[in-house]
Amino acid sequence: MEHMLEKDVERVLFSEEELRQRVAEIAAEIDRDYAGKEPLLVSVLRGSFVFMADLVRQIHLPCTVDFMAVSSYGSGTTSSGQVKIVKDLSEQIEGKDVLVVEDILDSGNTLSYLLQLLQARRPASVRLCTLLDKPSRRTKPVDLHYAGFSIPDYFVVGYGLDYDEKYRNLPYIGVLKPSVYGGE
Ligand code: IMP
Ligand code: MG
Repeated sequence: MEHMLEKDVERVLFSEEELRQRVAEIAAEIDRDYAGKEPLLVSVLRGSFVFMADLVRQIHLPCTVDFMAVSSYGSGTTSSGQVKIVKDLSEQIEGKDVLVVEDILDSGNTLSYLLQLLQARRPASVRLCTLLDKPSRRTKPVDLHYAGFSIPDYFVVGYGLDYDEKYRNLPYIGVLKPSVYGGE
């Protein structure tokens, strides 16, 4: 059956196969870089849950996972600049090698705030891994270690990414039709 969300997607940007391949490459880099260590992967909810699930299954090192939820967007497509911790980590991170897993790095508002907050808890290290990066949108500098794909300023959905909490279940990443969010 045709996916009912599909009518709102202008075009597919990254197919399931492209995502699978890129995620495997990132996991291999992480395996190399953290050899001999036991990284703690911190998924930033909700957008990164699909990426996190795929990434963690391609990592062969012993690792642990934790989850954090922040909100910086309402139902629109631009950052409000305000970051709120909706759910904090369950475990202490002092002395640990923390790898933050994000869906997309846009203005950098969310991540610059979050990385500072984690750094203050004295982990051994903190690195950032994002599936998508929109460098042209950056207003706050963020130190990025692993990036899946760099993209232009499109609003994208699927593979965990939402518009107004929907489209997260699309198995690929697609460009949303501007008409859906009141664009031209
Ligand atoms: P930043 O604080 O502006 O970097 O925003 C990061 C967050 O904005 C991401 O974690 C996403 O939740 C959301 N976001 C930014 N761009 C997009 C997009 O194209 N599609 C869906 N969500 C996005
Ligand atoms: Mg989000």
